[in-house]
Amino acid sequence: MSFPWAKHYTPTNPLMRFLDEKLPLPRFVYNAVGAGYPVPRNLNYMWNFGVLAGFCLMLQIITGVILAMHYAPNALVAFDSTEHIMRDVNWGWMLRYAHANGASFFFVVVYLHIFRGFYYSSYKAPREMIWLLGVVIFLLMMATAFMGYVLPWGQMSFWGAKVITGLFSAIPLVGEPLQVWLLGGFAPDNAALNRFFSLHFLLPFVIAGVVILHIWALHIPGSSNPTGVEIKDESDTVPFHPYYTAKDGFGLGVFLLFYCAFVFFLPNYMGHPDNYIPANPLSTPAHIVPEWYFWPFYAILRAFTQDFFFIPAKLMGVLAMFGSILLWFILPWLDRSPVRSGHYRPMFKKFFWFGLIPTMAVLFYCGGAPAEEPFVMLSQVATAYYFLHFLVVLPIVSSIEKPQPLPYSITEAVLGSEDKIVQGENATPAT
Ligand code: HEM
Repeated sequence: MSFPWAKHYTPTNPLMRFLDEKLPLPRFVYNAVGAGYPVPRNLNYMWNFGVLAGFCLMLQIITGVILAMHYAPNALVAFDSTEHIMRDVNWGWMLRYAHANGASFFFVVVYLHIFRGFYYSSYKAPREMIWLLGVVIFLLMMATAFMGYVLPWGQMSFWGAKVITGLFSAIPLVGEPLQVWLLGGFAPDNAALNRFFSLHFLLPFVIAGVVILHIWALHIPGSSNPTGVEIKDESDTVPFHPYYTAKDGFGLGVFLLFYCAFVFFLPNYMGHPDNYIPANPLSTPAHIVPEWYFWPFYAILRAFTQDFFFIPAKLMGVLAMFGSILLWFILPWLDRSPVRSGHYRPMFKKFFWFGLIPTMAVLFYCGGAPAEEPFVMLSQVATAYYFLHFLVVLPIVSSIEKPQPLPYSITEAVLGSEDKIVQGENATPAT
């Protein structure tokens, strides 16, 4: 980090001076999240979700490690060991509900974090690397959550695993051997359960590693802010501590209210009742649905119902589903506007609120609905707009729109001034 106006760490008591010389951890914390990290003074509550995501990751690791002490990853006893946690282990019910709802809340927080990024174009230069690492985190989160859902070995666990691993069989030539290799058999069974458990335990630590890189990359340019105008001088910033530790602390309190309401009063609201039935390979549930956080991508997968010449519908669905996330990797280069914040981009803002947001809402809804009309048709329309939005609308809008005048500086945006500068002039070019 190289902010000329960052405060310097000067330990005063002898113990801290000793530590600073031998292992400068306090200095590291001071510069990372303390008074030594200057942050734009105008961050709104949408900037709370990164810290909240970090909290969720910690919560998942702590509750998960304790659950793993009592869980048995064996197809014969996995379901019973989960019930044993709920009934016999002291506070086991709470741990399990905290972990299962923790996963849902983690996704709520990360979706808000991502959509903050879409609206304020946080992915633009000089923050491309933060964004790219974020997409890697999101992919790892999805893999982790998918494998975690298999562990209780209920009906949805089994059939979800069967459907999702079955997607690999759509890959020409190598698909079926690949699926058998992934599962360690022809259908989900003990081998699959064991390897899913092992990977479900490992991946959160990999995510934690990528989060460290994500924050490291963030500390190079520093946080963006709702105006998208870069920091001009010290007056545009406040030290992270105590200003944003207090604001993040407040956000954490509000988050915990909602989270605890679910854990203690609606613990199964976001789960599927069929997962309280032990896995049965001989009885297919009427509707196989993944957890809610996969729904938009599941809707995209199921939107392809017709083969296209020699390309089977299933393969197109699989490619579109993975493509819908992978295209976020090129987002920093699709959006060519020199202005970051959606506040100052009238056309972009319209397409965001009336295009992307309703499309995501439809995809969310249709992904959880049965694969029948009108949901299939709605998924098809929404899938078409989703790709159109990122691949066509965004590049065109960002090239032709005339942004509104930007404030001269963050301080001016906060305190107000008549001296507005001409559009775009103040933005660091994004390319
Ligand atoms: C475990 C998951 C994640 C954690 C713990 C995390 C953590 C953070 C933190 C602490 C910040 C700084 C505070 C803030 O801006 O909210 C941040 C910023 C950022 N994150 Fe994440 N993040 C996660 C996932 C993601 C994902 C999935 C993406 C995008 C696909 C992403 C993209 C970004 C971007 C672009 C910024 C910079 C925002 C700005 O300064 O305007 N993050 N992240």
